[in-house]
Amino acid sequence: MAREVQSPVVLALLLLVLARSRLEAADGGGWRQTGPGAAVVLAEELCNVERRSDLTYTEFVQHYAFLRPVILQGLTDNSKFRALCSRERLLATFGDHVVRLSTANTYSYQKVDLPFQQYVEQLLHPQDPASLGNDTLYFFGDNNFTEWSSLFQHYSPPPFHLLGTTPAYSFGIAGAGSGVPFHWHGPGFSEVIYGRKHWFLYPPEKTPEFHPNKTTLTWLRDIYPVLAPSEKPLECTIQAGEVLYFPDHWWHATLNLDTSVFISTFLG
Ligand SMILES: *[C@@H]1O[C@H](CO)[C@@H](O)[C@H](O)[C@H]1NC(C)=O
Ligand SMILES: *[C@@H]1O[C@H](CO)[C@@H](O)[C@H](O)[C@H]1NC(C)=O
Ligand SMILES: *[C@@H]1O[C@H](CO)[C@@H](O)[C@H](O)[C@H]1NC(C)=O
Repeated sequence: MAREVQSPVVLALLLLVLARSRLEAADGGGWRQTGPGAAVVLAEELCNVERRSDLTYTEFVQHYAFLRPVILQGLTDNSKFRALCSRERLLATFGDHVVRLSTANTYSYQKVDLPFQQYVEQLLHPQDPASLGNDTLYFFGDNNFTEWSSLFQHYSPPPFHLLGTTPAYSFGIAGAGSGVPFHWHGPGFSEVIYGRKHWFLYPPEKTPEFHPNKTTLTWLRDIYPVLAPSEKPLECTIQAGEVLYFPDHWWHATLNLDTSVFISTFLG
């Protein structure tokens, strides 16, 4: 009797839990907030970077590693890592930990240390389109891998290595509409865990026109529309679960279309 009474209750509870976890996955782990910029970029839906779901290491080395960016799909399964990166889980585990934030300009001039919870609750809002890069605090890199090891040990980086390089992670969470303006460094991968991140890229020999203290959003508004067709960048929106590979010295600027959680593997 008790069993008959219980099972519909248990079933209802189970359905509720399932519905909730599906909702969490669908809304982006509790992070989803779309920001300014999304409308502009998505209206064009431009993607002129190749997407590959069947790339072998040999092809990667021959066609992309030293030549051009590529978006990799389905190389690794980071669903466990993704679950650990939901807003609720990260706040519960790392809320008290102090994180180092950088200003979102090309040559990050300033670093600020704040508890992770304070960053998430007070600073991680959609970007004000009028704000300057040097006034926007951004959590990316400068990670304490000792304190966050219980998280990073669950990340599977793309399995493609380049001879003579050592992979190093940079983990970040950034507000919708924020992004780092044009800069370059060594080769690497950037995987989106939650949200969507738009990338603009130029080869090393084609220095883009940009102001290092202005945001990607400002560049998108003021400079992008007046570029001659031959001056347009490579660009694409990287979705959760996809990985962008960028070769050495390629200029790139990013724009988070939603609140985004992402992790880069730099091949230094
Ligand atoms: C950001 O730059 C502007 C102008 O370049 C300056 O007025 C402002 O004080 C700077 N903000 C910070 C936090 O350095
Ligand atoms: C990382 O965290 C550990 C443990 O809290 C601390 O001892 C260490 O100084 C931190 N490292 C850096 C570079 O902040
Ligand atoms: C960018 O901002 C920094 C600090 O706010 C300032 O020192 C630098 O001169 C600015 N750069 C340009 C090109 O305006």
